[in-house]
Amino acid sequence: MQTRQELYVRKIENGTVIDHITPGYALDVLKILGINGKNGEVLSTAINVESKHLHHKDIVKIQDRELKPSEVDKIALIAPNATINIIRNYEVASKKAVELPSTIKGTIKCDNPSCISNSMEPVEPTFGVDRREPIRLRCHYCGHIMEREDVLKQF
Ligand code: CTP
Repeated sequence: MQTRQELYVRKIENGTVIDHITPGYALDVLKILGINGKNGEVLSTAINVESKHLHHKDIVKIQDRELKPSEVDKIALIAPNATINIIRNYEVASKKAVELPSTIKGTIKCDNPSCISNSMEPVEPTFGVDRREPIRLRCHYCGHIMEREDVLKQF
C-alpha cells in the first residue's frame, strides 16, 4: 500500500534504511554514525513524518552502504525502536530491530573525571541502562548518571 511517507523519500536500489527512528532524532543518528554527507554519501532523511505504527517517526536512507553491527548497536542508544532494513535490488533483504542491551560496554566514556574508568587503570567503561528512552545510563564504577544529551556529546 502506498503510504504517505513515500511521498517524502523515494525507495532506494541498494543500501540501508533506518526506519522508525524516534521523531526528531534522525540528525543525531547520522551524527552517531559519523555521517555528514561530506564524503559523497547519498542520503535522504524524513523528519516527523506519519507512521503506520507510531504517530510520527524519522527515516534515514543511506544509498550503497550496509551498516555494520557495531554501527547498528550505537543507534539503539538514541533510537531504541529503530529498524534496520538492508535493501538489495530494491527489495528488503533483511529487517532487524536495533537492540539496546542492559549493560553498555566500551562505547562511551564516563563524564566523571575521577571515575576509575578514566584513570590509567585498564578498566573498560561500563554502564547499566536505568531508562531506555530517553536513555539514562548509570556508571557501573562511580554511579555517575549520563543522560541522552551527555551521550550525544561524545559523538
Ligand atoms: N524502502 C526503501 N527502498 C526500498 C524498499 C524499502 O526505501 N527499495 C523503505 C520503505 O519505504 C520503508 C522501509 O524501507 O521505510 C521498510 O520497507 P518495508 O518493509 O517494505 O516497509 P514496512 O512494511 O512499512 O516496514 P515496517 O513493517 O518495518 O514498518
